[in-house]
Amino acid sequence: MPTSNLKIVNFRCFSNASINLSEGINFFYGKNGAGKTSILEAIHLASSGKSFKSSNINSLSKDDKKSFLIESYNSSSGSITTVSKNEGKALSIKLNNKKITKINLLIESPSIITDNHTYSFTNETPAFRRKMLDKVLFVSSLSYRESWIQYQRLLKQRNAALRTQDASLASAWSAKLASNGEIITKSRKDFLNLVISNFHTLLDYLSKKHSINQLKKIDIAFLKGWDGEGLLEEINNRENIDIKAKTTTKGPHKADIQFLYKNTEAKHILSRGEQKLLSIIWTYSQHKTIKDMFNKEPVLILDDIKSELDSHTFEVFLSLLELIETQVIFSCIEDIISSKIEDKFKGLKKFHVEQFKT
Ligand SMILES: Nc1ncnc2c1ncn2[C@@H]1O[C@H](COP(=O)(O)OP(=O)(O)O)[C@@H](O)[C@H]1O
Ligand SMILES: [Mg+2]
Repeated sequence: MPTSNLKIVNFRCFSNASINLSEGINFFYGKNGAGKTSILEAIHLASSGKSFKSSNINSLSKDDKKSFLIESYNSSSGSITTVSKNEGKALSIKLNNKKITKINLLIESPSIITDNHTYSFTNETPAFRRKMLDKVLFVSSLSYRESWIQYQRLLKQRNAALRTQDASLASAWSAKLASNGEIITKSRKDFLNLVISNFHTLLDYLSKKHSINQLKKIDIAFLKGWDGEGLLEEINNRENIDIKAKTTTKGPHKADIQFLYKNTEAKHILSRGEQKLLSIIWTYSQHKTIKDMFNKEPVLILDDIKSELDSHTFEVFLSLLELIETQVIFSCIEDIISSKIEDKFKGLKKFHVEQFKT
């Protein structure tokens, strides 16, 4: 759900600001410390109940204030989301004045934040890539969410039994663990097959305008997290290994997406710029797949884009923006959106962040 108007009170460096956003592309620029990240953080907080910058929710209130308020209004549905923090109280999330959970907020108004880890996701850990994948499926599919929550719960139970070396208790959890694990894996496979196909279509389209030859040589493979066919069989076969290791050693919690350049991991071959390019094209392919498969359109948030992207990658990013129909919010220190670019994008809004300081 895009934000049409954002109100922030006592949040980070802002006492009181009100910003009318475009439902299309929004660009925030301003010098270091102006408050760009804080605005993007407020928008993300109003769509997830979480800060992408800090785990200390108290640090978000302005200076010595003990409370803050963020209000996001969507003009198409007329709905208002408020995220507020009062002294000594937990974060409160309300949709149209009714309390909702973080998960329900995520489902109502999903957003995808791209940060510097995302730009180098080929270099990150399998856990990071798995989390990226889980996040998008989690907000898109109810059945995925249910199986994922079940799987995590059962995995904890089985691992607790393995820690106490209780083989019969551990095996009591195996069948349910495996059946939920198979559901998660099938959803991941179905989704990734389409992401990969969208990725190749996109590369063909972009290669008419840009030089992206190295990326065309990348093969993408999904590693489901175990070697054999059925998960239950694998778990049963590995029971002794798991008891020794005191943990479930194989399963969807070990899955990964592999990017290969002629059989070598892409991170060993691609330049930093090419990795960033790969990441933004991959992010867009996922975004398109969420729309194709689930009819959902998460808002895209990209902070400090120019320090991450060189001019070639930025040109590709602009070509991708032309294809995006959802709300996009991005920031940069300099005003990189020329009037020529502005003319190209209907409904693009540009903000100089200094103007919101009160
Ligand atoms: N809780 C807070 N209270 C007051 N100022 C804050 C708080 N948190 C961050 N700031 C300040 O807000 C300013 C804007 O930060 P930020 O949004 O990260 O700027 P930008 O992204 O434009 O470089 C910085 O000067 C930062 O020190
Ligand atoms: Mg910043």
